[in-house]
Amino acid sequence: MKVIIRNDSKGASVWAAHYIARKINEKAAVSDKPFVIGLCTGSTPIETYEELIRMVKAGEVSFKNVISFNMDEYVGLPVEHPESYHSFMYKYLFNHIDEPEENIHILNGNAPDLKAECENYEKAIVEAGGIDLFFGGIGEDGHIAFNEPFSSLQSRTRVMTLTYDTRVVNSRFFDNDVNKVPKQALSVGVATVLSAQEVLILALGSKKARAVAESIEGPYSHYCTVSSLQAHPAGIIVCDDLAAGELKVNSYRYFKAVEEAEGE
Ligand code: PGA
Repeated sequence: MKVIIRNDSKGASVWAAHYIARKINEKAAVSDKPFVIGLCTGSTPIETYEELIRMVKAGEVSFKNVISFNMDEYVGLPVEHPESYHSFMYKYLFNHIDEPEENIHILNGNAPDLKAECENYEKAIVEAGGIDLFFGGIGEDGHIAFNEPFSSLQSRTRVMTLTYDTRVVNSRFFDNDVNKVPKQALSVGVATVLSAQEVLILALGSKKARAVAESIEGPYSHYCTVSSLQAHPAGIIVCDDLAAGELKVNSYRYFKAVEEAEGE
């Protein structure tokens, strides 16, 4: 696992955006096949999306041949609700870039048959050629997508019941009323994320410090599902200094030394 530590959230987010753009451009240079990306929502990716939008407008990268799959969506929240992940993605990214509408995939949390919706999502990922790069955040409890503690590390896209803790954390988007936060979501599984060629996790702020330390230094465990990245051949965690704050001094020094040696 590679860990990149930047001084602040802007530095970490710009690093993530440039990494994503570089990967899109590298594939486009050698292949006509689309670049398939997994995308996330939440507070974390906003600055990364801002930088990607800037890069698209500056002609530094294009999403014309990119196919995207979002990680998750609430169950039962109308698509047009401002806090649906559909709304989020269009507001913060899709309305401002050149990705064709038909290339955008977001789980439908209002589908009449949620199980079929999840199975079809997995099939669509395979049909697209598999995910090249999964870009995600990390929950305060170490979840990846909505794979809450004790989710199977072999899990695939399915209906998840959200923990009370996650609903409390997300209630900031729902008038601080935990009762307004949906109790369930559709989410890609841990194995769906790990099946990507590369996984890039962004962690910002001191609230994520414990989860970051557990993911990197803790055991490989369903208790903290991001720790599953330890078994991925190409996993990267990018954090700002605050999110790296609970790492052991020696771990911190080690990752900084690797960054310096590799010129990241
Ligand atoms: P956040 O959520 O970016 O809003 O902190 C991340 C997550 O829960 O995965």
